[in-house]
Amino acid sequence: MAHPHFLLNTRILTIGGFSGLAFGVASAALSSGSKSHITLLDTDGLPLDFPFNTGNDIQDKYHDSDLHLHSPLSMAHPNFLLNTRTLIIGGSSGIGFAVASAALSSGSKAHITSVTAEKLSTKITQLQALYPAAHVSGSTADLADTDTLEANLQSVLDAAVKDTGGPLDHIVYTAHEGMSNAAKSNAKLVEITATKALSTFTARLLGPLLIGKLVAANPGRYLKPAASSSPHTHLGNLRPPPTSGSLHLWRVAPELAPIRVNVIIPGAVRTELLDEISGGNPDMFTKGTLTKEVGSAEGAAEAYLFSMRSALATGQGFIIDNGTMMA
Ligand SMILES: NC(=O)c1ccc[n+]([C@@H]2O[C@H](COP(=O)([O-])OP(=O)(O)OC[C@H]3O[C@@H](n4cnc5c(N)ncnc54)[C@H](OP(=O)(O)O)[C@@H]3O)[C@@H](O)[C@H]2O)c1
Repeated sequence: MAHPHFLLNTRILTIGGFSGLAFGVASAALSSGSKSHITLLDTDGLPLDFPFNTGNDIQDKYHDSDLHLHSPLSMAHPNFLLNTRTLIIGGSSGIGFAVASAALSSGSKAHITSVTAEKLSTKITQLQALYPAAHVSGSTADLADTDTLEANLQSVLDAAVKDTGGPLDHIVYTAHEGMSNAAKSNAKLVEITATKALSTFTARLLGPLLIGKLVAANPGRYLKPAASSSPHTHLGNLRPPPTSGSLHLWRVAPELAPIRVNVIIPGAVRTELLDEISGGNPDMFTKGTLTKEVGSAEGAAEAYLFSMRSALATGQGFIIDNGTMMA
């Protein structure tokens, strides 16, 4: 199905919503199909309530009121992803596929990668069917070999820029090398070799780092200059710091700035990977969460959307682990 609108027909109370941040939140919620209820205090300290159903309601109420508005609603909440170009490395499955779907649902063009041409074609067809008016393209890329990793990533970047019509606004990285390589790295200690141990880190750890290198080495070629588009590289997933993803976050974010770089840190998310890890029983991961649920890929994709949309977010790891760390 198409990416769900998680705020559609929800009800949101925004306290202090006639100025500053809360006003922006109310406007953003309305633009996402929520009903917003704004509460503020008048000059005598008495509460004034304004239930709004649309952005126009806010505008009308504002013009009728004597209230001093610190954040005049000069325009509806912008869709920051409209007409952007997003490359999702690992977009043929799981979280990456959900991010591609979410980006398309917000009006971005999407370029995804898969290991095989057959799966790539199937996934592009699926996305195109969900978003008939949207641009969806893709590249095949095997990123598990250190000798070819950089060249393959460069081919993907070149193809994404060519197919989407220009430098990208966002790069999302969710590729990992799959369970067969993970199994090698989990060999018994006496069977470990450096090559086996490294084999599970090539795509997921070295890949994002080399994307950072390729972006830095080719200014403006793969990502748009910050001033025009607040471009943003999303360098992948990781378990909570200080493991793999955070290593390149702390290194890449300052060097690529003002290009934004964030890392999403998921807990258990229902994907092909989780099915494989759990032997077909992903619900086993509900234990040890606060939400008592395994996350959906669409829910995880929302964290990527936030990270892509908010020009204020950079150099951060966002934990979306169903409350596992506090359970
Ligand atoms: N799902 C979770 O519960 C969870 C939790 C924490 C962290 N994560 C992390 O989140 C990331 C995405 O996970 P996911 O669950 O969405 O995984 P997934 O559904 O298994 O998707 C993995 C993606 O990586 C691609 N891939 C596989 N082997 C590759 C290779 N050799 N070279 C290049 N790409 C390759 C796959 O392409 P094909 O489709 O062509 O195979 C697919 O696009 C991973 O880094 C994972 O470790 C996931």
